[in-house]
Amino acid sequence: MRVLSGIQPTGRLHIGNFFGAMRQHLQLQAEHDCFYFIADYHALTSNPTPAEVAEHTLNVAMDYIALGLDTKKTVFWRQSDVPEVTELAWILSCVTPMGLLQRCTSYKDKIAQGLSPNHGLFAYPVLQAADILIYRTDLVPVGADQKQHIEVTRDIAARFNNAYGEVFNLPAERILEQVAVVPGTDGRKMSKSYGNTIEIFEPEKSVRKKIMRIVTDSTPLERPKDPDKCNVFALLKLVASTDELTAWENRYRSGGMGYGEAKKRLAELMIDYFKPFRQKRTDIENDIDYVKKVLADGAEWAGAVAAETLADVRKAVGLRRI
Ligand code: ADP
Ligand code: TRP
Repeated sequence: MRVLSGIQPTGRLHIGNFFGAMRQHLQLQAEHDCFYFIADYHALTSNPTPAEVAEHTLNVAMDYIALGLDTKKTVFWRQSDVPEVTELAWILSCVTPMGLLQRCTSYKDKIAQGLSPNHGLFAYPVLQAADILIYRTDLVPVGADQKQHIEVTRDIAARFNNAYGEVFNLPAERILEQVAVVPGTDGRKMSKSYGNTIEIFEPEKSVRKKIMRIVTDSTPLERPKDPDKCNVFALLKLVASTDELTAWENRYRSGGMGYGEAKKRLAELMIDYFKPFRQKRTDIENDIDYVKKVLADGAEWAGAVAAETLADVRKAVGLRRI
């Protein structure tokens, strides 16, 4: 089965991205034929500076490789290295009703967050459909926020097939809901746009500092506390063993425990969790040529698949040489 997903290079990756998306991407490699890419065309919709695009793209690539992307097996590339996808996006946009895009909630959400209402942002689900369809994808593992875009993809593919013949298979989504939303240090959803993140590879000292500053309520030390309402406990769930978690839960409920103690332990566990990958991250930083080679090889593989699909599409719609 072919699995495909993309991640936007819009900032340094954080533990919300890891537990909410990347971890599953990496696990799926064991059983499936995985295609993962850095969605830099998509990132342009939020108008980053050129330096930001380059920096974040390189960092996402290094993070994925350091965290266990299997560079021998998984196809990993930068979206814009296979520009065929933009041609497919154009062709698909001609079978995409305006109403379908107008119903997409992510556009409205992003405008509400303050992004400029540009056409790229509006048309973004069509580019995403092209990403998925050009690589003949069976399964798309994404967070719940992306579900609608996979439905839109199926809708566009069906309309295309209906008009021009069976060119595309209809992909299924796999919603990564096992991990509830990871809270940030202020208790809202951890997100680059809220400045409340803990980055996967930020210096250990700064991880400790941020964890010690996580917002908690003001229940006095001796009183019982509700673990289910605590941001520190929500993060402990991600990194503590089942036994340790049960022990913390009991301590919360019985009182006599301060949040500071739980935070200290959380910082230790979080740092330990990512420790095995830190050395690899540093090694990769010192070998950018390796990263470039992985992405170039990936683009070659992905490019060959994309070129084949695009040839079928061009033929189907009548874009033929005279
Ligand atoms: P951000 O909100 O930081 O900009 P993105 O929207 O780029 O993050 O998310 C990339 C992927 O990481 C998505 O699949 C999304 O579902 C997942 N993700 C992001 N933040 C969280 C979070 N706080 N908890 C769980 N998953 C998250
Ligand atoms: N829109 C996705 C996000 O913001 C990223 C993305 C772009 C993607 N193209 C994709 C995800 C294709 C899955 C499949 O997270």
